[in-house]
This record gives sequence, C-alpha cells and structure tokens, in this order.
Amino acid sequence: MLLLTLVVSMAMAGVAFGEEEIRPPDAVKTDLLELGKKVYFKRCVWCHGVKGAGDGPAAERLFTRPRNFLSGNFKIRTTDSGELPLDESLIRTVKNGLQGSAMPAWGEFLKEDEIVAVVNFVKTLVEDRDFNDAEDEEVTIMEFGTNPWNTTGPYHLGVPQDAIDRGKELFTKNKCFECHGGEGRGDGNPTMKDDWGFPIMAADWQQCWNFRGSRRDPFNPFHVVRTVSTGLNGTPMPNFKDKLTIENRWDLAAFVNSLCPRKKQDKLTSKPVPDFLISSSNTPGTIAEKIDDPMWQSPDHDPRIVERSEEKAGNPRVNYIALAGQITRGKRNFDPKADNLWVTSRWNEEQGIYYLVEFHNRFLSTDPEYPDAVAIQWPAKLQDLFGAEKPYFIFGDSKKPVDIWKASFMAKDYNPAGAPNPAGYQLDVTVEELNGNGFEDVMAKDETTVQVVDSIFHQGRVKVLFKRALTTEGEMDVQIPVEQFIPVSFMQWAGDDKETDENMAISTWYYTILEPAVDQGHILLMAGVMGTVFVGLQGWLVWMTKRTRKMYSDGKVKQDELPF
Ligand code: HEC
Ligand code: HEC
Repeated sequence: MLLLTLVVSMAMAGVAFGEEEIRPPDAVKTDLLELGKKVYFKRCVWCHGVKGAGDGPAAERLFTRPRNFLSGNFKIRTTDSGELPLDESLIRTVKNGLQGSAMPAWGEFLKEDEIVAVVNFVKTLVEDRDFNDAEDEEVTIMEFGTNPWNTTGPYHLGVPQDAIDRGKELFTKNKCFECHGGEGRGDGNPTMKDDWGFPIMAADWQQCWNFRGSRRDPFNPFHVVRTVSTGLNGTPMPNFKDKLTIENRWDLAAFVNSLCPRKKQDKLTSKPVPDFLISSSNTPGTIAEKIDDPMWQSPDHDPRIVERSEEKAGNPRVNYIALAGQITRGKRNFDPKADNLWVTSRWNEEQGIYYLVEFHNRFLSTDPEYPDAVAIQWPAKLQDLFGAEKPYFIFGDSKKPVDIWKASFMAKDYNPAGAPNPAGYQLDVTVEELNGNGFEDVMAKDETTVQVVDSIFHQGRVKVLFKRALTTEGEMDVQIPVEQFIPVSFMQWAGDDKETDENMAISTWYYTILEPAVDQGHILLMAGVMGTVFVGLQGWLVWMTKRTRKMYSDGKVKQDELPF
C-alpha cells in the first residue's frame, strides 16, 4: 500500500521513468512580467527586436544572428531535442551569455531578480508554442551522469588517455567530422543553414571558449555531454542520446575537450588572456624553413599549465594574439571571422628573424578578387619613437609611419565542399611590403625584403612562415634590434567573407623581443621590467572591454558603433 501511494504521488509530481524525468515546462510567472518587460526594452530590444523576432536595429550586423524567439527554439537546454527549455537554463544563458556570439553575459549588469523577470518576459514572446500548455509541451529532463574522472576547473586536466582514445573512436564512428572537420576546427561543411535560414558553421572544438553553452567554464566536459545529449535546437547539431550510452558521451567529451588548448581565461571576455610579449628565441645553428620541422611544433597549450614532452620543451611558446573587427574608420568589420591568431618566433644573426603566424579559418576564399591575407605591422621608424610611443594602430599616422609585411594567398586546387585533404593545401602566396602614413595613405614599397618561406592550409588552420633580415637598406623598413621591446601588431583578412583593405580583423600593439644568446641573468632582469609593461597593457585591455560593455549596456552605443 505504501508502495502504491508512493508510485501514485510520484506520478502526480512528474515521474522519473528510468533515468529521465518527464514533467510540464515551467509556466510563465505573470507577476514578474512588468519588470521583465522593462528590462527587455532597455537591454534586449536592440538585438532581439520589439516582438522578439531577432530583428532589432543591430541584428543585420551580427553573425550569428540574434535569436528570433517566435518559434520557441532554444539551443542550450537540459531537456530533450525539440523541447522547450527550463527556466534554469534560460537564466544561466542570460547570466553567462552565449560565447562566440554577440549575446552578452548579463550577470555583470543585471540583478538576479531582473534576470529571472526578463527570462519570463522572453517566454511570452514565443508565438508558436506555449510554456503554459502543460499537456502538449511536456519536457523530458535528460540524465547526464557525473564526471567519471572527478576532474576540476578551471582546466579539467587529468582525464586518462584511454578515455580520450575511446572518445576519438566514437568521434570517427559517429561521423562528427562531417560537420566538425577531421581535427575538430568546424571545417567539415560549408553549406549548413539554421532553422531561420541563416548560414551556420559547426563549432571549432579547438576554441572551446567560444562554445555557446560553455557557461564561462570552457574546459568542463559536462557542457559537451549536455550538447551531444540534447542537440542544439534550431541548428543541424543533432543529439546522440540514442546512439551513445552516457559513458560513451563522457568519453566523447574527453576527446573533444582534449583538443582545446589550455590557456588562462580573461574573466571579462571569457577568452584566453593575450600573450602580450612575443619572445623570439635565439636559435644557434640553422633555423628550419619548413613548418613541419620539429623546431616549429610547439603545442598551443600554455606551458605553464600543461607540461610539454621533453623533445618539445625547448621550443618557443606559441603566443595567443586577440583580434577584433576594425570598427573605427572607413569600411568597418563588425563580425570578423577570426578573433585570434597564434605567433611563434625564432631568430639568429645569420638567417634573420622568423615569425610563424597561424590562425583558424574554416574555409578559404576561392575568389581571386578576395584572397585571404595576414600581415605583421611594425613602426617603420622605431629609432625615432620615445619610450612607450607607438604609431596609430591602424596603418600608422603622418608623424609615425608603419611598415607592413603582408602575405595574400589562395589555396591551390582547393574546393571548400570537397572531401578533406589529409595532406593540406599548398598556398599561392604574394608578399607585399607597405608603408602606412595614416588611414588614407598606404603605399606599396618598391623593393621587398620580406619572404614567406613556407605556408599551408590544413584542416581549417592557416600557417604562414615569414622571414626577414634583421636590418635592411630600406629607409622605411623597420630595423630590428636585439634585446629591445619592439611594438608589433597583426591584421588578418578572411577572403571567404570578402574582407579586404580596412575591412579586416586587427590586434592592438603587442611587443616582441629578440632574446639574447642565452644569458639567464639578463632574462630575469628583463622579466621584471616586462612585468610592469605587461600589467599596464592588461589594464588597458580590461578597461576597453569594460567601457565598451558599459556603453552598450547603458544603451549609449549607437547602431553604427556596436562593438561586435
Ligand atoms: C548585442 C546583441 C544582443 C543583445 C543586446 C541581447 N542578445 Fe540575446 N542573443 C543574441 C544573439 C546573437 C543570440 C543568438 C546566438 C546563437 O544563436 O548562437 C542570442 C540568443 C539569446 C537567447 C537564446 C538562448 C538559447 O539557448 O538559444 C536568449 C534566451 C537571449 N538571447 C536572451 C536575451 C536577453 C534576455 C537579453 C537582454 C537582457 C538579450 N538576449 C540581449 C544577441 C543579443
Ligand atoms: C550535421 C552536422 C553536425 C554533426 C554530424 C555534428 N555536429 Fe556538433 N555542431 C554542429 C553545428 C552546426 C554546431 C554549431 C551550432 C551553433 O553554432 O549554434 C555544432 C556545435 C557543437 C558543439 C558546441 C556546442 C556549443 O555549446 O556551442 C559541440 C561540443 C559539438 N557540436 C559536438 C559534436 C559531436 C561530439 C559530434 C559527433 C558525435 C557532433 N557535434 C556532430 C553540427 C554538427
């Protein structure tokens, strides 16, 4: 009898059938709607539109588009595919934002009760479905198990290799690569659309901080388990709950997460903290001019977080450089395809200086009018700069000219929709050297001294190896000294997206320094000096980010100036 009552009361409360719980969705809390509406029209309407159709004034500029709420499709849930989300998921989304899209983390600007209220208001914007329809809109709350390896944040290191290996097998068996590419950079399928008819790309697993559902906790395998269990409504990303046991899903997550480089994350941007100092290793003997030489094989992980194998321990660090769309002048770029690049450097007296510049781009251009390109920018007259003085970071200014090394390229025999080419594609590279005296005044130099000695496009990653002598004859060429902090910045153009000229992604000024031939005492001394410079730069970046976010949360950013 007792048992029967228990069963009956469970049935009424919403029963756990096996491992899943089925129950009505969370009804709309009508008493919160007034506050929710106020918050919505102050903060959300700019992107999501007056009726929630995803057509606010900023929408057209954004990739991915702001969500159209009318159909009731939500990506990040703990409920089964096609079902409505629980309040709890929506609240966490609004708090943490959707990484890799323009959807901000509102936890920094809104109070808890405002977030709960606006979520309830958003639920009333859904037209095609009804959160209050307890019968037709039942939800199945998925079961995710628990982390079998008890790893902890922020980096979740220590997942056993055999779990990662099993995950890799499941990746192949379940054909994740058809969309996510052979190495997980999202380069498998260039023609996908979402349910709203807009182009969509599979996630790049090597940039897990850009996962929509990362919840600002990008290395946590749980988020991958949730994604493969629930699928992402409104997108081609399916669920695998019937194909894979929960143990399988954790193994798959172990593999997916193992691909994402462990870098310290910036609390404000939830992206890796940039490596503001690019140290160029003094390399005795011969510097290899082939990218696949072991000399150039450093992992993307920060060596301070993940120990390197012995053979790679001596290689220089791969530095993370943050890029943003150029949105200050001329033809602006609100949704650049790349938001970072990676730089490694070596030098010696005999051969000169080498910079290996790498970035992820799922698909390259096939239109010769819009080649892909990447550039390194220097002050042309380094010797005339005082202290921390630097030229204007977009093409210099009339008093402080810049020297730009630009490599434009097209992949040979390349078809973005074709089968993956395991060997990668050779690039047809054209090197240009430019002098900039300001935005309107960029000229090609007559003589070039920079070379690209090797390059490749492989599974969604471009690699270009630049080389130049330390000094040249050219009056407008940067002359590169040893053991000095030299300002340097980077630019990148995605041809596939028709980025060209000032319509590009750009970094702020970083520093590079040519390390002296080994003299440890000196390096220690410089580390102290650099600490100060570094803190200053970090402060600047944080300040910029805070300011932009504040302007935008206060509604001060006009449509034209949205920083995305
Ligand atoms: C700067 C533009 C912008 C603003 C402002 C904005 N959003 Fe979004 N929002 C987006 C974008 C872009 C997406 C879609 C991202 C995607 O589909 O990957 C989105 C998606 C969402 C989703 C869907 C979540 C899911 O799981 O699919 C919700 C809910 C949401 N926003 C709520 C809000 C609320 C509430 C506010 C105001 C407090 C707000 N947004 C303000 C850009 C914005
Ligand atoms: C039919 C194409 C397709 C297949 C097959 C596919 N995915 Fe995806 N996946 C996508 C798309 C598209 C997105 C990006 C959706 C978005 O941006 O909202 C995505 C996103 C993801 C994400 C990021 C989720 C987030 O929070 O942003 C993960 C993790 C993921 N997929 C894992 C997998 C795994 C593991 C497999 C194989 C078991 C797989 N996917 C198979 C298309 C696919």
